[in-house]
Amino acid sequence: MNPTREECLRLMSKYGMLENIVSHSLKVAKVALFISSELNNKGQGIDLGLVEAASLLHDLTKTECLKTKEDHAQTGSQLLKEMGYERIAEIVAQHIWLGRAGNPSRATEEEIVNYADKRVMHDRIVSLEERFSDLKERYGLNQEAMDYLGRLQKEVYGIENKIFCILQFDPNNLQHL
Ligand SMILES: [Fe+2]
Repeated sequence: MNPTREECLRLMSKYGMLENIVSHSLKVAKVALFISSELNNKGQGIDLGLVEAASLLHDLTKTECLKTKEDHAQTGSQLLKEMGYERIAEIVAQHIWLGRAGNPSRATEEEIVNYADKRVMHDRIVSLEERFSDLKERYGLNQEAMDYLGRLQKEVYGIENKIFCILQFDPNNLQHL
């Protein structure tokens, strides 16, 4: 069973999520749910409750990880697994790097949350181009960091192509949400 939206909001407050990360997560959930229901209109069978919960909880341990420097995709996933939320844990583990391609004609909840997170900069919907130029400005401090971001960018453009190939509309349409 997926936690309800209210249960997710309670968990976010219980784990001391910073206000700006809450706003970011709410917007990611909005984008991810929009993409999911459009995909379902194309017969994709996406679990909307799962997408909403995973979007709201994807940065559950990020606030703490800002101090500990741990990988919040891993610690968040671990915590959710311990709570018994196996599927959410899998999605959270893959919200930064997807790491596997899967069936090109079938979108997954992992891909949707991963992609929605990349389209929301702080609490604003932006293009991948804008999101990655900001990431490169903030984190691309040396060649190694730039290469890392370049590989990530390539992976996310792959997800965008897959999703919008199924949806048959332009990724810029999300801007109006
Ligand atoms: Fe994150």
